[in-house]
Amino acid sequence: MPDKPFDRILVTSALPYANGPIHVGHLAGAYLPADLYCRYQRLKGRDLVNVCGSDEMGVAILMRAIAEDTTPQEIVDRYHPQIVESFERFGMSFDYYGRTTSAVHRETSQDFFRTLAGKGVFNLRTEKQLYDPEAEIFLADRFVRGTCPVCGYEDAYGDQCERCGSSLSPAELLNPRSALTNATPELRETTHWYLPLGDFQPRLETWIETHPEWKANVLGQIRSWFTDGLKDRAITRDVPWGVPVPPDVAEAAGVEAEGKVIYVWFDAPIGYISATREWAQQQGDPDRWKTYWQDDGTKLIHFIGKDNIVFHSLMFPAMLMAHGDYVVPENVPANEFLNIAGSKLSTSRNWAIWLHEYLEDFSPDLLRYALATMLPETKDADFSWHEFQQRVNSELADVLGNFVNRTMTFAHRFFDGQVPALENPSEADQEVLAQLAQFPATISTAYEAFRIREAVFETMNLARLGNKYFNDTEPWHTRKNDPQAAANTLHVCLQLCASLAVLMAPVLPFSAETLRRMLRLDGVRSSAPGEDAGEGKIGWDEAGQPLLAAGHALGEAAILFTKIEDEQIEAQMENLGAPAPQAEQAGTKPFEPLNDQIEYGDFAKLDLRVGRVTAAEQVPKADKLLRLEVDLGFEQRQILAGVAKQMTPEDLAGRKVVVVANLKPRTLFGLESQGMLLMAEDRDGRLAPLTTDGEEGAVIR
Ligand code: 2FM
Ligand code: ZN
Repeated sequence: MPDKPFDRILVTSALPYANGPIHVGHLAGAYLPADLYCRYQRLKGRDLVNVCGSDEMGVAILMRAIAEDTTPQEIVDRYHPQIVESFERFGMSFDYYGRTTSAVHRETSQDFFRTLAGKGVFNLRTEKQLYDPEAEIFLADRFVRGTCPVCGYEDAYGDQCERCGSSLSPAELLNPRSALTNATPELRETTHWYLPLGDFQPRLETWIETHPEWKANVLGQIRSWFTDGLKDRAITRDVPWGVPVPPDVAEAAGVEAEGKVIYVWFDAPIGYISATREWAQQQGDPDRWKTYWQDDGTKLIHFIGKDNIVFHSLMFPAMLMAHGDYVVPENVPANEFLNIAGSKLSTSRNWAIWLHEYLEDFSPDLLRYALATMLPETKDADFSWHEFQQRVNSELADVLGNFVNRTMTFAHRFFDGQVPALENPSEADQEVLAQLAQFPATISTAYEAFRIREAVFETMNLARLGNKYFNDTEPWHTRKNDPQAAANTLHVCLQLCASLAVLMAPVLPFSAETLRRMLRLDGVRSSAPGEDAGEGKIGWDEAGQPLLAAGHALGEAAILFTKIEDEQIEAQMENLGAPAPQAEQAGTKPFEPLNDQIEYGDFAKLDLRVGRVTAAEQVPKADKLLRLEVDLGFEQRQILAGVAKQMTPEDLAGRKVVVVANLKPRTLFGLESQGMLLMAEDRDGRLAPLTTDGEEGAVIR
């Protein structure tokens, strides 16, 4: 139910496979949105537990071990600590980060399997499956490759086609071959346990109907699974790595237990339960996990990427329903994929940005912020180093950093580093304080609805408001002829800074801490777990009110963000490998034919200018239109862009774009549009604004 009252929140993020390091695609899919959400909820004072861990079982790990001629244990022992370290340095605020090779996990998943087997939930089936006679192994999941029966891609995996996204079973592949030896597989008989997902379809459909508030991309995928009809899923495998099928269950079923393991997609989500159990043990209250998993007052939220939707919104809920003792997810806010500079991320080609490498060169907050503005919330999104630079330079440095810096510097220079008193505030002062009071609720609404980009955009709007107010009230002038007016400006600006130090903590936890120190703002609740979490008196809801008393002594000013130079970006770009060839990119169509030739004079008639989008919003009742305010340097324009189906206001806000500045104005929905933005449209109809570093008003020829 959309607004079910709840007492506590349990947040999970997809367990990353411990067969490689973390990259930006992982962060954008699950971990960053989950972290912002959790930090926000902690500041709200909510009872929250945030668990994650390394997914250390399954064929993905085994394949890596075979490729490196080592053991799966060696693989997970190498990557698990590396993942833990980079997550920590990036500021991921997990209450517990476990691993699925733990004894607690083995016991928890075997118990779960045993309970379902005992309830007669599973079917046992003996079938012929693909077998590699050279490697002497059944070719489960990714051990087999072949041609996708849906799109014809010749390198599809046995469980999924990476080009068209279809979920497959090994037997469906055309021209199958062993991914281990390249041998042509033969068919051999084997017995496995199946979860009859089809039997759960009516229950799952009824349950999903109670959640119309789920994200459209998630509901769309679920409905298409329902339309196709849910099929039985084998939940055991014949591979030499995984949680063993409980021997007593195998014996009762008359099956040889040796060599049979639980399918990784059965045990991995149970990893969330194991992690919560281990967390409870660590807290010295071993039964406490039950409150989070078994009490109806829990709101269970799974943050994942879109390739995990079926497992978290259908398979795991079916398992939880079948068990009977557990709550089911309240929401599964899955994100789409993040591309890099227009091409699909590819780890094998190093077309990826690795977190541990990023952290060698830049501070975590810069990527946290930039990525949060580009999250693939409704459709695939694109990360580029240029956009990263633009977000850092023109938003973090020019807007937020600049606002804090000018306020602090002014307060130190002219007010002895103290918060001046507010006396006889002007209308403008009062208006800004009234607007400030609205910010926590506005940003909350976005976080509660999992619109993380919007939440971050609204957070930055507070700094935008601060800069505008500072400019409009001109304290550098009033200081001379109306000192109280200057004092009032500084009083209000310092309150905005203090509120920012709280409200920006989810996205910029490290900078928020620096800002709190600069302001000497004590008593703020922690957004991360730890000794003082929940202790602070100042939380999210207090941040709309003035937090600093007149006369409060400020700390030293420090620069929050420094601009990133072009050379730094170029060095990063050199590190990138090569994108996958076009043929392997999803859904590509033919290029549009060229238009007829024109004379130079035809082109010269266009007056193209650089403009900065200073505000962006959806036009009410016009589902295709965004209303933009664009600063052309010498004048402001209102431009209506018919892109709202493909873009959100946050895609454009703050960006420097190319504007056709001499287009005759026209009126749409009662609003005048005074120009046009140039966009690149790819073959799949995706739009990307033409962006530039040039100054506002610069001529483009
Ligand atoms: O897709 C993946 O990377 C999986 N390791 C996610 C597992 S999520 C959960 F079920 F644990
Ligand atoms: Zn395919």
